Amino acid sequence: MDSIKIALLGLGNVGRGVWKILHGHRDMIREYVGVPIEIKKVLVRDIHKKRDIDVPFHILTTKFDDILFDEDIHIIVELMGGLNPAYQYIRKAIEKGKHVVTANKAVIASYGKELIQLANQRNVLLRFEGSVGGGIPIIAALTKSLAANEIETVVGIINGTTNYILTQMTRYEMDFNTALKLAQEKGYAEADPTSDVEGEDAAFKLSILAFIAFGVQVPPQDIPREGITRISEKEIQYAAQLGYTIKLLAVAKKHDGKLDLHVHPTLVPITHPLAAVNDEFNALFIKGDAIGELMMYGKGAGSLPTGSAVVGDIMDVSCAMMSGFREPYAYRNVREDLYINGEGEGEYYVRLEVVDQPGVLGKISTVLGNYGVSIASVVQRGRGERVVPLVLITHRVERKKLDLALEEIKKFDVVEEVASILRVESHSS
Ligand SMILES: NC(=O)c1ccc[n+]([C@@H]2O[C@H](COP(=O)([O-])OP(=O)(O)OC[C@H]3O[C@@H](n4cnc5c(N)ncnc54)[C@H](OP(=O)(O)O)[C@@H]3O)[C@@H](O)[C@H]2O)c1
Repeated sequence: MDSIKIALLGLGNVGRGVWKILHGHRDMIREYVGVPIEIKKVLVRDIHKKRDIDVPFHILTTKFDDILFDEDIHIIVELMGGLNPAYQYIRKAIEKGKHVVTANKAVIASYGKELIQLANQRNVLLRFEGSVGGGIPIIAALTKSLAANEIETVVGIINGTTNYILTQMTRYEMDFNTALKLAQEKGYAEADPTSDVEGEDAAFKLSILAFIAFGVQVPPQDIPREGITRISEKEIQYAAQLGYTIKLLAVAKKHDGKLDLHVHPTLVPITHPLAAVNDEFNALFIKGDAIGELMMYGKGAGSLPTGSAVVGDIMDVSCAMMSGFREPYAYRNVREDLYINGEGEGEYYVRLEVVDQPGVLGKISTVLGNYGVSIASVVQRGRGERVVPLVLITHRVERKKLDLALEEIKKFDVVEEVASILRVESHSS
């Protein structure tokens, strides 16, 4: 074989990054793989669209069949996004015996297991490093370098948009809407930011991580999640007074033989490595029984960082083709016995708005105690107003017990409202 021919499906942000890396590092890539990698065709919606790269017009097409039935094309690189037609195209490509590289979290979260099985049956490779954590090589780490570990925990900041917004709110005491607007101006948030700020994007990625790290398959829509739209700058300030910063965490954690899986805004101790992950950066904090604690940090999105992951996958597949070695990644066996439990035990932050008078804390502590909820720390600041915040951090407790206690506490005349309940990430869990 004197060259490896590929086709790109999509030439948007990531597609153009892939194009630039493949052309900019052409010689290095040829040396690494042994032969050049050539982009033979590119599928787009609009072949006349102006782009910031010089693409020969004759390689552009709007018909997927031009690519599917081109026997010279070895690898199809899907960078269109969305579930369909991306899923159908990937399936057809694998059925046709072509290798596939994709950065599509929606397709992999929803159909990953099925597509991996199909690829194995057809003796082709399917790679999707860019689908989680952009440029951070988390899939390869979990499937190759950390394969000898029983993974206990994967906790990630895997959405750059929300991390950027929360960082601005924390640093500059900004409200959510101002920080969101800034994120949109800087290109870190889409015009419609719903999927990011409501935690849906993180749930897609967590679904992929749960499968790769634990063999557990949970459709993204079944993962309990909460976004950051209700986080106020006030909450961030109270958390800071208690020694925490608020991050949107995607959590997959084994506890008592169960897998706790959820996406929530969470108080992270300022001494925790994830607390230092700011702006649009992503990070994954992993605990394995042999490796201990490990953290990977980097750019979780963007044309070139994601392009780096995609081109790495293309080179990996190309090397496998050149050596004739087609062994797929060894994915973990599917574990149906790990119970999925999004409302598991944990430490919680609770903010109550209470009437400022003596004995209130005592009354509340008694009810919490009756339900087995013990308080780790408390902040109560008089502001010279009738109603003041009472902020508590609990020790580890079942969420159900906390909710029952709060139901009772809500009924006190001196309690105006239970204003906020947030999870707390601890070093030890
Ligand atoms: N952007 C990131 O930072 C990032 C990070 C990680 C993963 N990803 C993933 O990478 C993928 C691509 O994202 P992106 O940001 O590059 O998207 P994008 O900028 O919207 O680009 C999408 C490209 O796909 C083409 N396309 C879309 N639907 C098509 C269809 N039905 N038929 C033919 N062409 C079609 C578009 O053609 P036209 O150019 O003609 O409109 C465009 O070139 C997504 O799965 C995304 O989740 C993105």
